[in-house]
Amino acid sequence: MRMLVLRPVVKTRTSETRLPPQIDLARLPRHIAIIMDGNGRWAKKRRLPRIAGHRAGIRAVRQVVEASARLGVGCLTLYAFSVENWKRPHTEVNLLMSLLREYLKREIPELNKHNIRFGAIGRISSLPPSVQKDLRTTIEKTRKNSGLRLTLALNYGGRAELIDAVRDLVTRLEKSGALDVDAITEDELNRHLYTHDLPDPDLLIRTSGEMRLSNFLLWQVAYSEIWVTDTLWPDFKEQDLLQAVADFQRRERRYGGLV
Ligand code: IPE
Ligand code: IPE
Ligand code: MG
Repeated sequence: MRMLVLRPVVKTRTSETRLPPQIDLARLPRHIAIIMDGNGRWAKKRRLPRIAGHRAGIRAVRQVVEASARLGVGCLTLYAFSVENWKRPHTEVNLLMSLLREYLKREIPELNKHNIRFGAIGRISSLPPSVQKDLRTTIEKTRKNSGLRLTLALNYGGRAELIDAVRDLVTRLEKSGALDVDAITEDELNRHLYTHDLPDPDLLIRTSGEMRLSNFLLWQVAYSEIWVTDTLWPDFKEQDLLQAVADFQRRERRYGGLV
């Protein structure tokens, strides 16, 4: 069995020693989804503007993406902007969009270096055209990579996704001339989701302590293992990811059955 043993982490302030998590590389989650929350609180603690928190959040994204690629995780989906996030002040929304563009432009060489294929889910066609263009470029330039599949959820809402899937499915059935309700099955609906070519997340991580889904992947997380940490997203490091994976490997998944 291939095990990844991490170097011990010694918390100098408290002189407490945290045992290194042991990770079985043969039992990695195939898909990790993360609700990256707490950028605003991180900035507030430092008396900085919220956007400074978002900027720091991008550094955490880089670390976690790279760590996931190195670990050998198949898919990583990051919740970056929800359909509800448009309710925020215009200035914050605009700055988030420019940060996203900055990230996409800078990241292509890094993604290629780590063999990462980039994708996006959500109501992408309602994003500003400049963002859509950068997304298309990043998708195109990383298309041939065969390692980690990194997906950003942008203008994403779980309910919106289900509505879009049902509309697509019904339109298809109508066109075929047979609107047969028996054709509406779980598999068929799944095929019309934004995530149709991704496995359901095995592990769902949320930072900043909030115990809610905030409209993320509502259908897909039916049997995901949920791991919540109080750590604010900009402080989330490789070590936190490894801890989440190590804890995930100790869970017993039953899918409603008996073991
Ligand atoms: C998460 O951080 C990033 C986005 C939703 C874009 P927040 O901006 O929600 O930070 P908090 O929750 O206010 O601390
Ligand atoms: C969830 O965080 C959305 C993203 C991480 C993009 P929010 O900060 O928007 O969620 P709530 O408002 O705390 O539920
Ligand atoms: Mg938040």
